[in-house]
Amino acid sequence: MTTPANATRIALVTGANKGIGYEIARGLAKQGMTVILGCRDQGRGEQAAARLTKEGHEVRPVTLDVTRPETIASAASEIDSSYGKLDVLVNNAGIAMEWQSKPSNVPLASVRQVYETNLFGVIALTQAMVPLLLRSPAARVVNVSSSLGSLCLTSDPNSELSKFLALAYNSSKSALNAVTVQFANEFRGTSMKVNAVCPGYVATDLNNNSGPRTPEQGAQIAIRMATLPEDGPTCGYFDDNGRVPW
Ligand SMILES: NC(=O)c1ccc[n+]([C@@H]2O[C@H](COP(=O)([O-])OP(=O)(O)OC[C@H]3O[C@@H](n4cnc5c(N)ncnc54)[C@H](OP(=O)(O)O)[C@@H]3O)[C@@H](O)[C@H]2O)c1
Repeated sequence: MTTPANATRIALVTGANKGIGYEIARGLAKQGMTVILGCRDQGRGEQAAARLTKEGHEVRPVTLDVTRPETIASAASEIDSSYGKLDVLVNNAGIAMEWQSKPSNVPLASVRQVYETNLFGVIALTQAMVPLLLRSPAARVVNVSSSLGSLCLTSDPNSELSKFLALAYNSSKSALNAVTVQFANEFRGTSMKVNAVCPGYVATDLNNNSGPRTPEQGAQIAIRMATLPEDGPTCGYFDDNGRVPW
């Protein structure tokens, strides 16, 4: 089974101006998709678009802060008027504020702030894009989660991940996994597939560039799930090595 020709496919990647999101956008554009770079800062979006255009890719920046409903609405209407549909949505934008703080000390305001981007932003944007995704013959939604959202792995005292405390970030990604399941179940049996991915530990600004992997390596699993063939999975949680336990 094959996906429809990528040449006509339209993708939206959030947080596409740097890090893993930039490389996801680049990878999808390399496959011939037209990629809309969702960036919360217009200038940073334009700079990223200029770099990718210089490489010969078909990209276009759109101002999109997933915590600002008015930017979500204007992005949806811009995509509708320009393309009339959306084939790929990659919910990549994410923040972390409290690496290795004790959960008992993390201010509730920080938890709310992280959830606004990592969770509520994904729900709001996905809901806004559903009408456009339903006009695609093969819609793919990819939620960029983390193995730190895996309850199975982080609750195992023998796992290194259990030592990694981040109340807001980790729980926001667990909730994002649950949200992935909800949307996947709503559209099960249709041509839309919804999956969560973990890019691995990647050197980006999110972690003060401490990870051993490059953003390009981290982008590969999202690119794979964004280009799944018709017989590919939905309602899954994947990294480069296969399924991640929820
Ligand atoms: N790096 C890792 O090891 C790792 C591991 C597992 C999962 N992840 C996930 O991978 C995704 C990408 O992270 P990254 O490592 O590439 O981090 P990054 O380099 O810090 O990039 C994050 C991106 O998200 C954007 N962003 C933040 N808040 C936003 C908002 N409210 N609306 C729209 N865009 C927003 C940022 O825009 P600005 O430039 O304007 O700030 C930036 O483009 C995140 O979901 C993260 O949780 C990363």
